[in-house]
Amino acid sequence: MSYMSEKRSVPKHVAIIMDGNGRWAKLRGKERYEGHIQGVESVRRVVRAAVRNGVEYLTLYAFSTENWGRPAAEVEALMTLFCKSVINETPSLIEQGVRVEIIGHRSHFSDEVRSRLSEIESRTAAGERLTLVLAIDYSSRDEITDAVRSIARNVAEGRLKADDITEQTIGESLYTARYPDPDFIIRTSGECRLSNFLLWQASYAELYFPQTLWPDFTEEDFDKALEVYASRERRYGLI
Ligand code: IPE
Ligand code: IPE
Ligand code: MG
Repeated sequence: MSYMSEKRSVPKHVAIIMDGNGRWAKLRGKERYEGHIQGVESVRRVVRAAVRNGVEYLTLYAFSTENWGRPAAEVEALMTLFCKSVINETPSLIEQGVRVEIIGHRSHFSDEVRSRLSEIESRTAAGERLTLVLAIDYSSRDEITDAVRSIARNVAEGRLKADDITEQTIGESLYTARYPDPDFIIRTSGECRLSNFLLWQASYAELYFPQTLWPDFTEEDFDKALEVYASRERRYGLI
């Protein structure tokens, strides 16, 4: 029955708010950045688990636009970590058939970070098993604001009629235009909020808030999350 297959299905697009690195470090008497370093291990595990489970899109929230407001040393440590990780992880991502794409406001990055991010995108462009979307310097409200600006420009310059604007027009104007909406959003560390992540796209996503801190998140935790998803019944406003 289609109802059963819907229930048992693997989400096509999983999005994760990777939270709890700082608390993980503090609990061990370490500096916060050590939690971020440990968090890269969880990224590696989750990518492997996503590929193994046949998930097609995995979006990871790595740095919000609001995160620029953290102490300079932490921001610097995160930027260094992004650069190092993309260099270290690229061969394994290519081998697993993972294509990496970045969403967010690239203009705020240093030249080095920007070129490293572009490099991982071009080097992994042939990957066909999993699209790994990294949200870095991402803000959903910024994204929506940018979309409104570009739609308004199209109307002002006569390329579009206001009455022809549909949900699709808006979806196609977002950074995520190429991806299906997330089916399942996981936020680790027990916080139950979206923190400016995929607000438009999350309309009918299933949400899951495990207590596990991100650096402790394992492949088994990802498998368990998929079981939770499979047990949910998505109704989309119907009965
Ligand atoms: C998530 O962990 C990683 C980023 C936001 C970059 P946090 O750094 O927010 O860790 P907590 O929430 O302070 O524990
Ligand atoms: C959200 O986590 C951003 C990322 C995980 C990258 P935060 O830790 O920055 O969010 P708040 O401050 O708890 O809402
Ligand atoms: Mg946090």
